[in-house]
Amino acid sequence: MPPRPPTFLITAGPTVEDIDPVRFISNRATGKLGFLTAQAALAGGHRVILIHGPVPEEVERSLPARTAGLMKVAVRSADEMHRRVQRHLKDVQVVVMSAAVADFTVEAPSNAKLKKREAGLSLRLKPTHDILAELGEQKRTQRKDLVLIGFALETGRGSTEQARAAERLREAYRKLTTKNLDALVLDTPDAMGADAAEFRILRAAHDEGNQQRLTKRLLARRLIKLGRELWAERQPTASF
Ligand code: CTP
Repeated sequence: MPPRPPTFLITAGPTVEDIDPVRFISNRATGKLGFLTAQAALAGGHRVILIHGPVPEEVERSLPARTAGLMKVAVRSADEMHRRVQRHLKDVQVVVMSAAVADFTVEAPSNAKLKKREAGLSLRLKPTHDILAELGEQKRTQRKDLVLIGFALETGRGSTEQARAAERLREAYRKLTTKNLDALVLDTPDAMGADAAEFRILRAAHDEGNQQRLTKRLLARRLIKLGRELWAERQPTASF
């Protein structure tokens, strides 16, 4: 019997870190790519656990919670996303970590609205868990079967586009290696909220990949195909 197709865990959207009941720290991610990736996985006959931060209503509506094969989990903060990813990890074989997770959260969020006169000018932050790096560590030890696909959103630094592009690529390789990933998608802030953008897919131990302008719908399909291939390579009888 061929092995059962892998279940995908997909994260999407931004996370939101509350300062007080009315203010927060977040980013410009919209969750479009993560939701399209979940749709592509479902269309390919995979079960999907989609863990997403707050996304615009049209993105939220693009994938109804009652869709067959889908488990949709709404979270707010990086900490909640971390807990839900860990809770569902045992049920999945491929992770596509497309969420833009906050790297820092507020050290002491206030239950009451902060007053101008008390708040001062500085906000104390503390680092969040790096969810993907932790998965990379688990893959190294107890979950050698796990397939991990991550993202690197980079601007690069330097006075020329050539220098910035070279740094973006260096950073992408650094993340691919240090987080123990099987593949990584490199993009830039231009991709945030857009329907199409420049993407480059890098695979561990492979060449640099091609930078290509792709619609997010097409990139989503490629990521599912890649996840399935990487998973099949791990199976004792690569018959899927
Ligand atoms: N990521 C994560 N948990 C975090 C931060 C990021 O799982 N706390 C994941 C993202 O979902 C993405 C990948 O890690 O798939 C890269 O995120 P990025 O913010 O680009 O990388 P960092 O490692 O946070 O590095 P830096 O911000 O210094 O560039």
